[in-house]
Amino acid sequence: MKFEKIAAPKGVREYLPPESQAFEWVREQLITPAKRAGYQLMELPVFEDTSLFNRGVGESTDVVTKEMYTFEDRGGRSITLRPEGTAGVMRAVIESNLDRGQLPVKVWYSGQFFRAERPQAGRYRQFYQVGIEAIGLDDPALDAEVIAIADQGFKNLGLKNYRLEITSLGDAQSRAAHRVDLVEYIAKLDLDEATRSRAEINPLRIFDDKRPEIKAAMQNAPLLMDYLSDYSRDHFEKVKQYLDTLGIAYVVNKRMVRGLDYYTGTTFEFVHEDLGAQSGIGGGGRYDGLMEVLGGQALSGIGFGLGVDRALLAAIAENTLPVQDFTSDLFIIPLGEELKGYALSVAAEVRRAGFSVEMAFGDRSLKGAMKGADKSGARYVAVLGESERDSGSVELKRMSDGTSISVKIEQLHTVLQA
Ligand code: HAM
Repeated sequence: MKFEKIAAPKGVREYLPPESQAFEWVREQLITPAKRAGYQLMELPVFEDTSLFNRGVGESTDVVTKEMYTFEDRGGRSITLRPEGTAGVMRAVIESNLDRGQLPVKVWYSGQFFRAERPQAGRYRQFYQVGIEAIGLDDPALDAEVIAIADQGFKNLGLKNYRLEITSLGDAQSRAAHRVDLVEYIAKLDLDEATRSRAEINPLRIFDDKRPEIKAAMQNAPLLMDYLSDYSRDHFEKVKQYLDTLGIAYVVNKRMVRGLDYYTGTTFEFVHEDLGAQSGIGGGGRYDGLMEVLGGQALSGIGFGLGVDRALLAAIAENTLPVQDFTSDLFIIPLGEELKGYALSVAAEVRRAGFSVEMAFGDRSLKGAMKGADKSGARYVAVLGESERDSGSVELKRMSDGTSISVKIEQLHTVLQA
């Protein structure tokens, strides 16, 4: 009987060797700056109670209305695969009273997120983010630090062709003032029913509408930036000054609206210039009301999510991926079955000294094993036969130029070091 093959679900992004090594490298580079700034890991479930996202992310967003993977579990509960990370972090902080300790609570996370979007290059139904959240304090210096951490992640990748866009979505007072004029403006537009009801929940959403006719209609709409309260304007000015001090370039985008409803105050996006339509490689901002809406204290917070898949595409586009890092230091070939035990123990020993070592398995000829070594990209190759075992030394071949030197087995690590 012949079984049919099974394909991966539509729109998911998976990473197989050798590309997965580049993926892992990108993820590490992106999160290292957060670890250096004292952010600590939070490992959270990939599914949550659906109401967490309805309430946290917002009923007017595409994410909640069209893109969530929601299902009933075996106990009849409504469960959703997390479409983003901030709501879950906030849920966990409230549930475990982390906000009653030292503030800000500073955490980082990484993992898979799920949105039922139309798949295309750079847009997937399962994608990967690394993110941070700093919860409990409202200080413009913290906003600047959070932005700087994201920026350093992209710099670690060697990226240059990206820009940072920032805006302020204001505090409650600024938004209330703006909303009055915006609602009046929108009321005069010729909008379909769905768009109008979205605008009723959050009129800012209409700025995010991609249809050309709506874009044109919104051309003269009142901009939130022109309604900022003294507090919000001063806060935003300070964030900009700190970014200047840090030497981080930015452009102010007065029309930026993010896809999630919880943002207030400082809001930002990193846009890569070589990626086409899906150019947002990361984004984030402050969220004043989120904790309260989820049943916690009225504390502000700020954070970001960086798209690892898109950052990898950007690194490929800018050709910044390291080649060398992904290959082993040493490839060991045992000459025959009897030498395998010895080869295993040499490999284990050199690995304990901190090097990556691969070994040839199976019963291939020496020629076949050499081919394997070559393909692996390992820096050095050593063939272990009886004479090597008896003498305790081996010919170490450097693959870059084919030269060999004789080395004592216990000294292998000193040569690999060089
Ligand atoms: P977001 O802008 O929705 O923000 O997502 C952050 C990043 O995730 C995007 O800039 C993009 O690189 C990547 N991303 C989003 N959707 C997809 C997709 N379908 N395929 C591939 N990559 C994607 C958030 O999720 C917020 N939780 C960020 C945040 C944290 N704000 C405050 N704290």
